[in-house]
Amino acid sequence: MISNLSKTYHHGGVDLPVLQGLDLTLEAGDMAAVVGASGVGKSTFLQILGTLDLPSAGSITFNGEELTMMSAARLASFRNRQIGFVFQFHHLLPEFTALENVMMPALVQRLPLAVAQRRATDILSRVGLGKRLTHRPAELSGGEQQRVALARAMVLEPSLLLADEPTGNLDRATGEAIHELFLELNRERGSTLLVVTHNPDLAALMPRKLRMVDGGRIVDETPAPAAASPERVGEVADVADVGLPSAASAADPAIPTQASALAHATPNLSEGSTSPESPGSPANSESGSTTGGRI
Ligand SMILES: Nc1ncnc2c1ncn2[C@@H]1O[C@H](COP(=O)(O)OP(=O)(O)OP(=O)(O)O)[C@@H](O)[C@H]1O
Ligand SMILES: [Mg+2]
Repeated sequence: MISNLSKTYHHGGVDLPVLQGLDLTLEAGDMAAVVGASGVGKSTFLQILGTLDLPSAGSITFNGEELTMMSAARLASFRNRQIGFVFQFHHLLPEFTALENVMMPALVQRLPLAVAQRRATDILSRVGLGKRLTHRPAELSGGEQQRVALARAMVLEPSLLLADEPTGNLDRATGEAIHELFLELNRERGSTLLVVTHNPDLAALMPRKLRMVDGGRIVDETPAPAAASPERVGEVADVADVGLPSAASAADPAIPTQASALAHATPNLSEGSTSPESPGSPANSESGSTTGGRI
């Protein structure tokens, strides 16, 4: 829950109020698009929600915990475990390959190297970059860089995925594939998604539509309930209906079912037989998160 959130930048001796008394509640598993004019404060809001910047005032509680009061060390660990962030400008590490960039969050969380590598390879294949693993960002197109950034944000299957114009550089077909990934992450993991977008197709896919207006407040423009998606938090039947196999590797029990389920489009990467577990089943001890984030 976000209450009375404010952010004022100070620039050249002048106060620039951007967010002023913003209130918003998101339930675990919510999928929301944030729209609004350029410069209105969308990226500012996302960065504060992603704990990358501090508000000037106000409160943010995540699954009941107050984020604005957490120590820097706890916040860093919380961010790594729970939040995936796709920046408006991708912020990849230029000296590392695509694979290494995507492995980074998993290594920060001290997952074994082989597991980090497998997960990163799987998710990169899912975003269509299985043949670009060893390319550095400068050796990738703009859209490919954005997809690497997306893979990095999703590799730990975060409870909360924040994406700032994630499909801005992508052609229509690739953009649609990325939308599908969002939906799957939400369906399989119950992840909460908040996506800033100017793309009407992506906005239309999200059950909730939030408009940021001048003065830095959010107006809920969610259409009538009939338009809301029925596929929400961990509904196993829904996952089964769309035929997602649960491809946990028998050879490597350390790889959680959910991570492997994300790799279903690239079965060649998931050795071993399919698991009897359902992709909607709980427990992901590596990432430490089992459901979406309630804010
Ligand atoms: N670090 C900063 N210092 C001072 N002003 C800033 C800073 N960052 C952003 N701003 C200003 O705050 C306002 C909101 O910026 P923000 O990046 O949140 O907008 P936005 O809604 O994401 O816009 P866009 O759709 O163009 O990405 C802008 O007017 C911007 O100039
Ligand atoms: Mg922005």
